[in-house]
Amino acid sequence: MKNRDWILKNLIIAIDGIAGSGKSTTARLVARKLHYLHIDTGAMYRAAAYAVLQKNVDPDDKEAVEKLVENLKIRLKQNDELQVLLNDQPVTQLIRAPDVTAVVSKVSSYEAVRMKMVEEQREMGKNGGVVLEGRDIGTVVFPDADVKLFFIADLEERVRRRCHELIEQGEKVDFDTMLTDIKSRDRLDSTRKVSPLKKADDAITIDTSNLTIEEQVEKVLSIVSEKRDGKTIVKE
Ligand code: DC
Repeated sequence: MKNRDWILKNLIIAIDGIAGSGKSTTARLVARKLHYLHIDTGAMYRAAAYAVLQKNVDPDDKEAVEKLVENLKIRLKQNDELQVLLNDQPVTQLIRAPDVTAVVSKVSSYEAVRMKMVEEQREMGKNGGVVLEGRDIGTVVFPDADVKLFFIADLEERVRRRCHELIEQGEKVDFDTMLTDIKSRDRLDSTRKVSPLKKADDAITIDTSNLTIEEQVEKVLSIVSEKRDGKTIVKE
């Protein structure tokens, strides 16, 4: 695609996929390129899981978790980088900690938690001009999204990426532990009763195993470009 000096008005772009498939980084860069809002829905579930740990609520206690989450204020704020606010306090880095990752699949499996998050995500995205990424965007949050993508990648490659990310953040990592964690999260996310991770029938699958981030972004932008028919296109 040669000329990308356009802004697409008001599209809703949904990127779902498995953990470590590259959807977050790609969504962030695509949103930046299009001057769209990036809505990292996983970050919202992570903020809820972080609150559960902070308040010493047992993640297996569905009722207690749902009660706590009901009263949380979770906001995404986009300046240059996406900021995650929990009851007005920034938790952007804290929600990436391994103890949060360990309980987030459990916390996000509860119906009341999902209902609250989905409602807020719909509110944030309703006017378009958004790239939402998560597990259930194309199936539940915005089943009528203009562009629906589903990211996959080989398990070992995903584990390598996650290890690399954590090492960059100064965390200690062990490949085998990470492999077990990601496998377990894949299983929990795709087998839970309420809106499990599932490819929407009309989503386009992108296998990122052998793609660089630049290639992933390029691919998404070219799909978006193909789908833009009938939408207002404004030259920058
Ligand atoms: O994308 P991530 O790893 O930050 O997501 C954290 C967890 O949140 C993931 O294990 C599953 C859950 N999640 C979800 O259930 N639905 C979404 N739309 C996004 C994330």
